[in-house]
Amino acid sequence: MNPVIWNYVTRSSALIAWSLLVISVMWGILLSTRILKPKDSPGWLLDLHRWLSGLAVIFTILHIGSLLYDPYADFQIPDLFIPFRSKYTGAASLGPWPIALGVLCFYILIAVQVTSLMMKKLPRRFWKVIHYSSYVLVLVVSFHAGWSGTDTRAWMYRITALALIFFTTVALIVRILFPKPAKTLAATVEGRRPNQNIENKRNLAITKTYSAATGILGIDFIIPMQEVMPSWVPGSHITLHLPNGLKRQYSLCSDPTDRTHYSVAVLNSPNSRGGSSWIHENLKAGMTLEVSGPHNHFELEHASEYLFVAGGIGITPMKAMIDSMPHRRHWRLLYAGRSRSSMAFVDELVAEHGSKVIVHADDEQGGIPDLDALLAGFEGHVYVCGPEPLLNAMIQRVPAQRLHFERFSAVDRDSGESESFELKLSRSNKTVTVAKDETLLDAINANGGALISSCGEGVCGTCEVRVLKGTPIHLDSVMSDEDKDAIGVMYPCVSRAAGKELVLDI
Ligand code: FES
Repeated sequence: MNPVIWNYVTRSSALIAWSLLVISVMWGILLSTRILKPKDSPGWLLDLHRWLSGLAVIFTILHIGSLLYDPYADFQIPDLFIPFRSKYTGAASLGPWPIALGVLCFYILIAVQVTSLMMKKLPRRFWKVIHYSSYVLVLVVSFHAGWSGTDTRAWMYRITALALIFFTTVALIVRILFPKPAKTLAATVEGRRPNQNIENKRNLAITKTYSAATGILGIDFIIPMQEVMPSWVPGSHITLHLPNGLKRQYSLCSDPTDRTHYSVAVLNSPNSRGGSSWIHENLKAGMTLEVSGPHNHFELEHASEYLFVAGGIGITPMKAMIDSMPHRRHWRLLYAGRSRSSMAFVDELVAEHGSKVIVHADDEQGGIPDLDALLAGFEGHVYVCGPEPLLNAMIQRVPAQRLHFERFSAVDRDSGESESFELKLSRSNKTVTVAKDETLLDAINANGGALISSCGEGVCGTCEVRVLKGTPIHLDSVMSDEDKDAIGVMYPCVSRAAGKELVLDI
């Protein structure tokens, strides 16, 4: 083979690897900001990011390998891996620096790729630090390419290089302007609004009510005179403001890509305190109802494999998640209930997805589902919604970083004797004392906070507020304490402060 071909391989693979790297980083930023949310079926977007970075690694290896055969480069193997060892100085005479930067980039690239492949096994914070170093990588690669490339005089190369540097700069600016973790940004975009002083209520018309199963009423809503409903993502719920003064949250269970209506399914709870029983007795097609949301406390995170576990009416958020799954995504659903006749959407799910849906009806199989067998060898993310015993069983079996759940009712989280503490409302600059026997929510609202609440039991998430300083004692059941601390929120209807001082973004 003509050895000059290796020179072409060296140059072209470098440019391709650089381009792929920039596109991959930009795509990753788009993913984290969820700008693409309306199109965001959380599978292929992440896959594309991974494919792009994987291809960047392959072309980088090709670039490095071909240097050994490039007749104009004169590299030995140690030159490729030991910074400052190569004598090559490139187009610009900057000594060994351009190549040393290239070697450094290679190590960063490999570190980012390897830690991404091992993401599930690594501490999240460690993975993030390494992953974020890819911003440094795209920047340093630009210098390496500009200083060591032999094509820098070619106008095509210049245009490409300038475009890549421009996109790199845009990506870094976007990252600097939106510095919060992906989870917080996603939460904001998806409707979780800490300090939600505006309840965003609107009147929705009920177009249809139907029996989704024994004791379960399906309800479809539209916005009158409007063809398209506001977009939402799987796991979201809406709050129904009932004429009897009660507010009740229900998960949206229709297909998130179908923007013609919202659907919920409401179980007529035997322990109803006037919410579900009122709905079953009174709601009819043609009525209008005040509705707020959608809001989301049960986000579907990107994963290559999912296990959904639903108990009874817990199927509602799962159904929306399943509807949003790309065709090739690996997932299974365990759907447990007392009997098929009491399990909403069971026939529809089985007909549509076949063996992916495992139905466990107590009156058919008896006993409880074999969760250990279900989880054996499973390394993906687990989403659970159902009664407390089912939830606890999964909490005992699945590591917290892979488990996501939503509760129906509050768990008893006794923190012992309550202590008074100082509360600072940062926006009004007020400092108040929260007494031992007073809820934080009451203290906030008594001092002009106007924080909206609903369940008052730490279940619905309506009263979410951002913590600026201090350590909360989380006593709610909305999400795991780790998740709340990671995104810096608390639920003041039940939660309190661990120290003497708490500063909230109100
Ligand atoms: S009001 Fe429901 S969590 Fe606070």
